[in-house]
Amino acid sequence: MKSKILAVLRERGDYVSGQELCERFGVSRTAVWKAIGQLKKEGFSIEAVQNRGYRLVKEAEIYGKYELESHMDTRWAGHPVSFYDVLDSTNLRAKLDAEKGAPQGALVVADMQTAGRGRRGRSWNSPAGANAYFTLILKPDFAPDKASMLTLVMAIAAAVGIKETCGAEAVIKWPNDIVIGGKKVCGMLTELSVQQEYIQYVVIGAGINVGLQEFAPEIASVAACLEQECGRKVSRAMLIANIMRAFESYYELFVKTLDFTQLREVYNGLLVNCDREVRVLDPKGEYTGISKGINNTGELLVELPDGSQVEVYAGEVSVRGIYGYV
Ligand code: BTN
Repeated sequence: MKSKILAVLRERGDYVSGQELCERFGVSRTAVWKAIGQLKKEGFSIEAVQNRGYRLVKEAEIYGKYELESHMDTRWAGHPVSFYDVLDSTNLRAKLDAEKGAPQGALVVADMQTAGRGRRGRSWNSPAGANAYFTLILKPDFAPDKASMLTLVMAIAAAVGIKETCGAEAVIKWPNDIVIGGKKVCGMLTELSVQQEYIQYVVIGAGINVGLQEFAPEIASVAACLEQECGRKVSRAMLIANIMRAFESYYELFVKTLDFTQLREVYNGLLVNCDREVRVLDPKGEYTGISKGINNTGELLVELPDGSQVEVYAGEVSVRGIYGYV
């Protein structure tokens, strides 16, 4: 019944009265109303107007393992995909999977997180049906001190993947926030497990604000979502697949030299605060200077008023624009 009603709404592309649906399928008004309710729960947006009937406004987004796999055209990044409707955190799940032997490139995706984690012990609000939450597992065979650069590689991939998916001008706020129109659309959290001087695994988690939503008052002035910025529906499956494609190719350039020799230009080209005055929030004391982009190991070069240059290491330090977030 549900799918028959959906087919009629799709075919008509306009209002269909409840009466017509009842007569057509020989069911009661209550049965039609219940079926419409189920379709709404599945994510279809259906308008109900008195004296006119029901109209299909928006198809439900198909988002799951098969949809993600069908868009994935990489050799290893994003294979296999594990998809969950609800997880505590994709990073936590990815770490468990990595311990149990998940290979390099395995990807954990969730529609919703109940304990999404942000940087510096903060939480990451992760409601269902709106955003992309995913974590990529890597098992590189290089020294642990190189691992922090991988987040910057993912930052390039996210900016490029977002641009490709929805055309919006996505840029990087050092080291790895993705920003559109001065507001953050994506954050990343990288975690590392080291055993006897070797990397056991690295997990890189990203949260991307995709669908239209109301942000909590404390972040509303600095947060944005892709659909607001590009003015149309964005497929989360396509978005993640595009990011995986970009990541795979930039990662392969990165491992050739294990630094940013080949990626520095593209990273700095995407850097929103390049050649701009920035405030460096160092716990040992704040200062301002002109950002000159990253060096070959991912530190931000900041030129001080006396002409000297400092290399800012991401760790505990963050950078703001002189008048606000970027
Ligand atoms: C930040 O504070 O900017 C980083 C946010 C990282 C959030 C993502 S959502 C997917 C993955 N799982 C988590 O628990 N956190 C990361």
